[in-house]
Amino acid sequence: AKDMGTDLEEILISEEQMQARLAEMAAEIDKDYQGKRPIVVGVLKGAVMVVADLLRKMHTETLMDWMAVSSYGSGTKSSGVVRILKDLDSDIQGRDVLIVEDIIDSGLTLSWLVTNLKARGAATVQIAAALRKKEAMKADLDVRYVGFDIPNKFVVGYGLDFAEQYRNLPFVATLAPHVYA
Ligand code: PRP
Ligand code: MN
Ligand code: MG
Repeated sequence: AKDMGTDLEEILISEEQMQARLAEMAAEIDKDYQGKRPIVVGVLKGAVMVVADLLRKMHTETLMDWMAVSSYGSGTKSSGVVRILKDLDSDIQGRDVLIVEDIIDSGLTLSWLVTNLKARGAATVQIAAALRKKEAMKADLDVRYVGFDIPNKFVVGYGLDFAEQYRNLPFVATLAPHVYA
């Protein structure tokens, strides 16, 4: 049941707030990558919205690529052991890589990914994430571009799902406990 009225608790970041912040991040990225042609790596599926919106706000010439990864581990918590479900199409040797994520929760997925992409000989590897749960971070991760630091709550929308639902919402909202309880 996709009842926006009762399934969602509170809108944490409105569509307007998200788009305004992404515009700021895009400007920052443009400044940092002047004269460069970075490969943007979106992490499927959550990052689809951020990649689409961020890249349209940027002027830097980019190459768009995607990876799909899956965290091994029990239950819903990621373990940091990652399996590649879909690898990059491009060779990133000597290239500037910008990983784009919807959210950093534990940071374990990204810390594995950064190590993996550096091992392929990328010249630089930086991270842009729309959201970061600061309290939930276990990995020591250097994140260059962050949209919003949010509380450690179950959030959906703007790419983020609960059982594959709610990804299409243009805003970020907390899920009412009765939905996942
Ligand atoms: C979510 C989210 C990040 C990752 C963050 O993806 O989109 O990719 O978890 O978790 P971490 O910081 O604890 O590693 P998920 O594995 O749910 O796949 P999805 O993007 O397809 O929803
Ligand atoms: Mn994801
Ligand atoms: Mg998910």
